[in-house]
Amino acid sequence: MSDIICIEGLSKSYADGANVLSDVNLNVKDGEIFALLGPNGAGKTTLISIICGIVRASSGTIMVDGHDYVKDYRWTRDLIGLVPQEIALDSFETVMRTCRLSRGLFGRRKDDALIEDILDKLSLIDKRDSQLRELSGGMKRRVMIAKALSHEPKILFLDEPTAGVDVELRKDMWRLVLALKERGVTIILTTHYIEEAEAMADRVGVISKGKLALVEEKESLLRRLGKKTLRIELQKPVAVLPTVLEPFNLDVEDNGSTFLYTYDKNANRTGITKLLSELSSTGLILKDLQTQQTSLEDIFIDMIQKENS
Ligand SMILES: Nc1ncnc2c1ncn2[C@@H]1O[C@H](COP(=O)(O)OP(=O)(O)OP(=O)(O)O)[C@@H](O)[C@H]1O
Ligand SMILES: [Mg+2]
Repeated sequence: MSDIICIEGLSKSYADGANVLSDVNLNVKDGEIFALLGPNGAGKTTLISIICGIVRASSGTIMVDGHDYVKDYRWTRDLIGLVPQEIALDSFETVMRTCRLSRGLFGRRKDDALIEDILDKLSLIDKRDSQLRELSGGMKRRVMIAKALSHEPKILFLDEPTAGVDVELRKDMWRLVLALKERGVTIILTTHYIEEAEAMADRVGVISKGKLALVEEKESLLRRLGKKTLRIELQKPVAVLPTVLEPFNLDVEDNGSTFLYTYDKNANRTGITKLLSELSSTGLILKDLQTQQTSLEDIFIDMIQKENS
C-alpha cells in the first residue's frame, strides 16, 4: 500500500513558546483507517489542523498524495474532508444548503442526489430542509460529517466525530466510515472511545505530550501486548504462596485470597492446565475463576502512565 500522507519532522510551538508537537514523523497509507489516540491536550487536533492548513507548522514537511501541502495548498486541500472537533455551522442555514454550499466552495458541480445519499446514510434525510438551529447536538455533528463528505474527498479527517452521539447513531456512523473505506477513502480519526479504535482502525498511533509515542498495526499491537489474566479466587486466604505455585509468577491480591496469572493467549501452551493441576495438588479450594483480556484501552493507559512516570 502506498502512502497518501507523509509527515516529516513536524514541530509546532505557539507564541508562548510551548512545544505542542515535537518532531512528528508519520506516514498514513492510502485507503487505511488510522486512529490517533492520546489524552486531552496531547496535540491531536493541532496535528490535524496543520495537515488541513488551518494552523501553521513551526517546522517540518507534509506531502499529501505526492504534493507539498504548502506549495500546492489548493490541490492538497481539495483531497481532504475535515470534520472538526468543534461544531461550527451557520445555524440559520438548512442541512441541504450547508452541504451544497460546501460542495460548491470546492468547485464541484451541483449534485443533490449525491448529497441526499450521504444524508440518508447518516439518518439525516428527513432533516434535509431543517435549519441547523433546529437540530440536536448529535444531529449537528452528523451534519458536519455530511458537509465534509459533500465534495467527495479522498482523505477524511474525523476529529472526535462521535462525541455526544448516541450509541445507535454511532453505529450508523461507523457503518458509513467502513463503506467509505470500501470505496478507497483514507480515514484518520481521533476518538476517546478506545473500543471504537479497536473495532475500526487498521493502525493506531498514540500521541502523548506532542510526541508520537507509537504507531502500529492494531492487530499486531493487540497480539504483542494482548495478554490475558486468569483471576483465581480462593475460599480462604493463604498466608504464604505454596512452593509449587512459585514458577507461575502469580500476583497475590486481597490478602492472599486472590491469585492473578498473566499469560499469552496466543502461545501454544498457556500454562493454565498445569497451574490448575498444581493448585489442586495444594488442596486449596477455589471459589471462582475469571479471565480478562487486555484491551487497547489497558495498553494505552499503561503507556501514558509510563510516559508520565
Ligand atoms: N491557539 C493556541 N494557542 C496556544 N496553545 C494552543 C492553541 N491551540 C492549542 N494549544 C495547546 O496545544 C496543546 C494541544 O492541543 P490540541 O487541541 O491539539 O490537543 P488534543 O490532543 O486535540 O486534545 P483533546 O483530546 O482535548 O481534543 C494544548 O496544550 C493546547 O492548550
Ligand atoms: Mg482535540
